[in-house]
Amino acid sequence: MDRVDLVTTGVAVGGAALARDGDGRVVFVEGALPGERVSAEIVATKRSYRSARVIEVLDSSPGRIEPVCPEVARGCGGCDLAYASGDEQRNVKASIVGDALRRIGRIEAPPPIDPGPDLATTGFRTTVRAGVRGGRAGLRRRHSHDLVEVASCRVAHPLVDDLLTGGRYPGSAEVTIRVGATTGDRAVVVDGSPADVDVPGDVTVTTRDGEVAIVDEVGGHPFRISPRSFFQTRNDGAQALVDVVGDAMRRSPHGTMVDLCCGVGLFAATVGETFDRVVAVESNRSAIADARVNLAHLGPRAVVTHSAFERWVPEEADVVVADPSRVGLGRDGVDRVVGTGASTVVLVSCDAGSLGRDARLFVDSGYSLEALTLVDLFPDTAHVEVVSVFCRVESGDT
Ligand SMILES: C[S@@+](CC[C@H](N)C(=O)[O-])C[C@H]1O[C@@H](n2cnc3c(N)ncnc32)[C@H](O)[C@@H]1O
Repeated sequence: MDRVDLVTTGVAVGGAALARDGDGRVVFVEGALPGERVSAEIVATKRSYRSARVIEVLDSSPGRIEPVCPEVARGCGGCDLAYASGDEQRNVKASIVGDALRRIGRIEAPPPIDPGPDLATTGFRTTVRAGVRGGRAGLRRRHSHDLVEVASCRVAHPLVDDLLTGGRYPGSAEVTIRVGATTGDRAVVVDGSPADVDVPGDVTVTTRDGEVAIVDEVGGHPFRISPRSFFQTRNDGAQALVDVVGDAMRRSPHGTMVDLCCGVGLFAATVGETFDRVVAVESNRSAIADARVNLAHLGPRAVVTHSAFERWVPEEADVVVADPSRVGLGRDGVDRVVGTGASTVVLVSCDAGSLGRDARLFVDSGYSLEALTLVDLFPDTAHVEVVSVFCRVESGDT
């Protein structure tokens, strides 16, 4: 084992701390926080960087804590930043986002990052995907494909935790547990036979191809969510996103709004209510079918379009909210958004690297980055969710 002592100076996209080895090569150090001296094991060496894992913390950051969850000590890898305090986690995430914008987006002076609303740090997760071994659900062991059977998961909603620890799923290799926090609906989606599953009688058991959906409410609106449709992994987080996105559009004209990558219609159904017309675009067949149901209350004001954004023909709009998957919008997506002529673009990013790339594309297309808000959907992990607001620079603006 190649063991080195390292001093960490920053943090990279993905949450690993940054250090340099004796040759000046960048080392991504998993399990370290910025400002620490650690002894680490090198796990990979590439031409321009190395990857390492902490074995021992020699000088710790004031932001380091003993993880509160006992399952971390048993090897559970679900919460990879549980060793950082809440304040340190916020600093780490702001640093990841700021660095991505400066380094990848080449935006020298991004706006200050609003830490966003305070969200619950326990009992919030309404969707959990778990592995199954011997009929019992388990979470991935750190740095391994093995599973850890947890006595309880701190971050899971109690209705999920009950099924994670008490449900039996023989014949399946994986189970997705999804609940409606506001309705109490519960469903498990298995890749084996639903007939073999042993869960309480109120729980719907289905497969990925099943028709059965759960309902959850956000902002007083019911959302049908089918097994193959994306939905945010926490109800309070979905509400927080709706609030931050709605706030970002407050001062824009409320003619037409485009909800690009609309999923089951989260933003179109809520924020979209205040617009004369809402265009919802989504490539997933299941999600768009749910969106048609979830946007019915808007009547003819809602135009629901089953299309990948790459093939969508942009129409004139005042505002676009775009919430793509981790890869971001890329050139194709940004061109479509710019093609609407929208004066305000609200981009919801779940990956700092793609935020950096998309931000550069928007800036090159005549928009300026005006605001950034973190919405911490995944405490105790290095995962970031960022709402950024871009405004079209009118000719004559400096
Ligand atoms: C992060 S989810 C956001 C969904 C929704 N805004 C929400 O908050 O519930 C991203 C969505 O983009 C959709 N998607 C992925 N690639 C797409 C593409 N090329 N064109 C349109 N939609 C896409 C996915 O199916 C998914 O529903």
